[in-house]
Amino acid sequence: DKAQIGVTGLAVMGRNLARNFARHGHTVALHNRTTAKTKALVEEFGDEGAFVATETAAEFVAALERPRRLMIMVKAGPATDAVIAEFAPLLEPGDMIIDGGNAHFADTRRREKALREQGIHFVGTGVSGGEEGALNGPSIMPGGSAESYESLGPLLEDIAAKVDGVPCATHVGPDGAGHFVKMVHNGIEYADMQLIAESYDLLRGAAGLEPAEIAEVFRTWNTGRLESYLIEITAEVLAHTDAATGRPFVDVVLDQAEQKGTGRWTVQTALDLGVPVGGIAEAVFARSVSGHADLRKAAHGLPGPARRATEGSGFADQVERALYASKIIAYAQGFHEIAAGSAEYGWDVDLGAMATIWRGGCIIRARFLNRITDAYRADPAMATLLTDDHFAQALGDAQDAWREVVATAARLGVPTPGFSSALAYYDSLRADRLPAALTQGQRDFFGAHTYRRTDRDGAFHTLWAGDRTEADA
Ligand code: 6PG
Repeated sequence: DKAQIGVTGLAVMGRNLARNFARHGHTVALHNRTTAKTKALVEEFGDEGAFVATETAAEFVAALERPRRLMIMVKAGPATDAVIAEFAPLLEPGDMIIDGGNAHFADTRRREKALREQGIHFVGTGVSGGEEGALNGPSIMPGGSAESYESLGPLLEDIAAKVDGVPCATHVGPDGAGHFVKMVHNGIEYADMQLIAESYDLLRGAAGLEPAEIAEVFRTWNTGRLESYLIEITAEVLAHTDAATGRPFVDVVLDQAEQKGTGRWTVQTALDLGVPVGGIAEAVFARSVSGHADLRKAAHGLPGPARRATEGSGFADQVERALYASKIIAYAQGFHEIAAGSAEYGWDVDLGAMATIWRGGCIIRARFLNRITDAYRADPAMATLLTDDHFAQALGDAQDAWREVVATAARLGVPTPGFSSALAYYDSLRADRLPAALTQGQRDFFGAHTYRRTDRDGAFHTLWAGDRTEADA
């Protein structure tokens, strides 16, 4: 029997996806650079379904039914190009190469174009959910041609997570659309994590709670509108005690956050597209600041406020509101970026559908995503999520507490770049006038860069060095 799908690259993600396909009744061809991994998979999990173990690239390709569906699960970057170079010559028009790694969408666009010229569909696919998701149901974000999705979609929808019976997989759009959306998913993931970290820091530094107590706060939050995977695991991490020292686990972990790059890409891309994603950027920078041990050591003795933690029991409630409001901002920024990318590259991404496939399987899965789907269903052309009825009301209800929390953080010297920048974004967008008018005046003063007026069309320049009359520019 020929295999419906093949997986090459059997590290943990590839192995678990292969098992997931097999568990859903699909025959899966297996290939890995070293055959030991292939053998180990069949030995350990061979009884979970139908696997065809292969050794050479030619054997692997021959094991697949046509059109072939060949999934590559290798480390994003040069390894992906190497695997493509190895397999593409063995494929025929109509075959599909599915890249399930965290590739940069620009690489995916390049690869898709090159392979399209050979008649091969290249399907750059975002896969979220880590090891566990890969095995039991990830969220899957495939790009590439609509034609490839017709053949591939049913398999992906089969193995994806389901929420209310709806699979967390859909065709995102042509070429790099899938990897672009996965990139923004990760940017939002960074922002979500940073906001949660700030909430923890505030509950500890401003309300004086211990990690185990904060775990309880997060557990309670997880029964309400903040219900999500990240809140759930936060409670688990905070409740954990280090076996060696008997101290809270969070107190023995080195406080320097690492990153593999997708959050940074989200911000770099946003800068190129001219989309303000301050909340996501602050999350990337917060990790960066934490990692600068040299700067932190140098600055360690600088003075801080004299005030101590004094906040009472109502504070946790205020932090919950600030967190929910800031989270709405992070998602609004992320969705703005997807909309801008979609317009730039002509992808026609259905924003509501993205929220739908993020409801399950992925790291940012959350109850709240239903609200985003509803918002885009109600108005697909909405300029910003913030003005949707539900979100506008939630922000309005939260704003007093949000301001209180940011002010408290500033007074007590607890850094809250995520909360603060989210609030600044909110206040900037709703402002009647922004001081950008002054910026324009300065630019015109020192560089004759010209400005536009509120009362007349055209570009103007003031003769700053002369009699300060205004001229059409
Ligand atoms: C997911 C995750 C995953 C990502 C890690 C690492 O959706 O399953 O986003 O794809 O690789 O979360 O991210 P950092 O190492 O950059 O934190």
